[in-house]
Amino acid sequence: MSEIAGKLFSWVNDRLPIVNTFERHLSKHPVPSKVNFWYLFGALASVVLIIQIVSGIWLIMPYSNTEEEAFSSIEYIMRDVDYGWVIRYIHTTGASMFFAVVYLHMFRGLLYGSYQKPKELVWIFGCTIYLAMMAEGFLGYVLPYGQMSYWGAQVIISLFGAIPYIGESLELWVRGDYYISGITVSRFFALHVVALPLVLIALVFLHLVALHEVGAGNPEGVDIEEFLDDDGVPLDSVPFFPYKVLNALV
Ligand code: HEM
Repeated sequence: MSEIAGKLFSWVNDRLPIVNTFERHLSKHPVPSKVNFWYLFGALASVVLIIQIVSGIWLIMPYSNTEEEAFSSIEYIMRDVDYGWVIRYIHTTGASMFFAVVYLHMFRGLLYGSYQKPKELVWIFGCTIYLAMMAEGFLGYVLPYGQMSYWGAQVIISLFGAIPYIGESLELWVRGDYYISGITVSRFFALHVVALPLVLIALVFLHLVALHEVGAGNPEGVDIEEFLDDDGVPLDSVPFFPYKVLNALV
């Protein structure tokens, strides 16, 4: 059985660079040996993103995005769905934790100048992720369609109205109606569960690809690429696995 599985894996691996990609970007990826506690929050942000996506998928199942049922479907999740309240609280508290972790991640960036050359693009992707996260959080807040959602939406959508010339039309376009209604809830639902998660996943992917292209920074700000061994691996680095994985787990 294991021989068949091994052969199947080799067959796929010869056609799709699974082992190569895994080694290059994870297990053998050289990480500066001096990175400290502050470099953990990127990985934690990835974990929270996965928790948000998984808990979100479970919430979509009993949630209803219509004007009549949005609020009562949340009541149904909280009272009648088995462990629905746990999943909902994982998702809502997870959203706050996502911001907490990302703020610490950004603070590290400011502390050690991680936005400097050659990581400018990593930083720019990071700032775009942050904007997408705020939009995602706002859209999710409106979905229960209670008083807080309604007035929150009223305030934020009105901000568009403050833009000269196009403000009023833009407000109408975002709301999808002359007042906040089921149409607004329905379009915010589509954006919250499909459009923005896709944007976030794509941005995180680009953030990491850009980071792996130039290599991670370190608290000393020393360019580890200056001294390489015969295989071109920086001397002042350790492979991500097992060193940094164990380090992060402990
Ligand atoms: C979904 C949100 C995010 C995820 C999953 C994420 C993920 C990561 C990961 C895994 C790393 C490598 C490990 C580390 O250095 O911590 C990293 C590095 C970095 N991130 Fe993020 N990130 C996110 C948001 C942001 C934001 C909002 C910013 C800034 C505005 C940012 C700026 C950076 C920078 C500058 C680095 C390179 C640090 C260095 O090597 O010196 N990230 N990110």
